[in-house]
Amino acid sequence: MSRVIQYRRFGGTEVLEMVDTTAEEPGLGEVRIRVEAAGLNPMDEKVFHGAPPVRVVGFVAALSKPAEWFSPKFPKRVGHDFVGTIDAVGSQVNDFAVGDVVLGTLRGAPGAKTKRGSLAESLIAPVDDVVHKPESLSIESAATLGVSAQTACGALREIDVRSGDVVVISAAAGGVGSLAVQLATHRGATVIGIAGESNADFLRSLGVIPVAHGAGVKDRVLAAAPGPVTKILDCYGGEYVKLGFSLGLRGSTIGTLVPSPKAILRGARFTGSRHAQPGDLEEVAALVASGAVKTAIARAYPFEIAAVREAFTELATGHVRGKLVIDIAAR
Ligand SMILES: NC(=O)c1ccc[n+]([C@@H]2O[C@H](COP(=O)([O-])OP(=O)(O)OC[C@H]3O[C@@H](n4cnc5c(N)ncnc54)[C@H](OP(=O)(O)O)[C@@H]3O)[C@@H](O)[C@H]2O)c1
Repeated sequence: MSRVIQYRRFGGTEVLEMVDTTAEEPGLGEVRIRVEAAGLNPMDEKVFHGAPPVRVVGFVAALSKPAEWFSPKFPKRVGHDFVGTIDAVGSQVNDFAVGDVVLGTLRGAPGAKTKRGSLAESLIAPVDDVVHKPESLSIESAATLGVSAQTACGALREIDVRSGDVVVISAAAGGVGSLAVQLATHRGATVIGIAGESNADFLRSLGVIPVAHGAGVKDRVLAAAPGPVTKILDCYGGEYVKLGFSLGLRGSTIGTLVPSPKAILRGARFTGSRHAQPGDLEEVAALVASGAVKTAIARAYPFEIAAVREAFTELATGHVRGKLVIDIAAR
């Protein structure tokens, strides 16, 4: 049996329920994973809330797979990122075996009719969604990497962050931001990270020049920058694309994970996991395992329904430093 988190209608955390299910058998090119921990992402919550932009993405995805449109919508599971141990392999799986410890993220358009979710004791994943866990990488760190690593790598690729750049990154203390700032400094860029004042020391510990968000942020960025700002990666939305233009940047040097129609019309780039490439997750996992990049885990919650609801409530505050994790194997 496998306990899983699922929901049968859109809504707040009250729609989440924990149920017992029979563990499935892996099919062609799939593995079954006994999950040890799962990291949370804001997208997980937007999906079970049925946020309108997420539903539009799901509808568009369904158009390319019309058969899925007729499949029952609910119940659906929750969560993307995971770490765990393979306990069964399907046919035509060559690079993974029972007993391998893997991390990964369940890909697919948010809001599409997939019913998969990583908040489960057992999950089925295509081999393309998993990589081997380096031995020295902790279970909880591994659980946090999937979406954030692919998003950070994709975004830095899209705006071509390189040595010599002076890059501004908003929501620098968040799940994606705290990885993106480190990957950018690793590439030789100077990074100015925008976060609340209480995160200034945290950002300094990551090798970042901290700047507080709020009124007057442009003046603070200009005062902190050691030279002209060359790029901006917006991990928050709102006014940060405008900030990029006001700093004199061109659209191709402004990337945003949370685009508004206006931002895109002005030429800023909607980026993130859409620009990830195979190998990104493995590369970041190796950097974290070596100690070159750090993960910040704000809190780990047990795998109980009340605790999972509490974790999503904390995530929704929008002020988590780094990541939240659900410890699934520990009971
Ligand atoms: N396009 C994609 O592929 C993609 C992929 C992943 C995520 N996303 C989206 O990107 C966003 C960030 O994801 P995430 O996982 O990093 O979120 P997150 O971890 O929840 O981000 C939280 C961080 O945001 C910071 N923050 C709050 N208000 C801020 C403000 N006004 N200015 C700057 N920073 C502020 C907080 O810092 P303080 O507490 O110091 O304020 C906190 O550390 C989400 O909207 C998510 O849905 C997009």
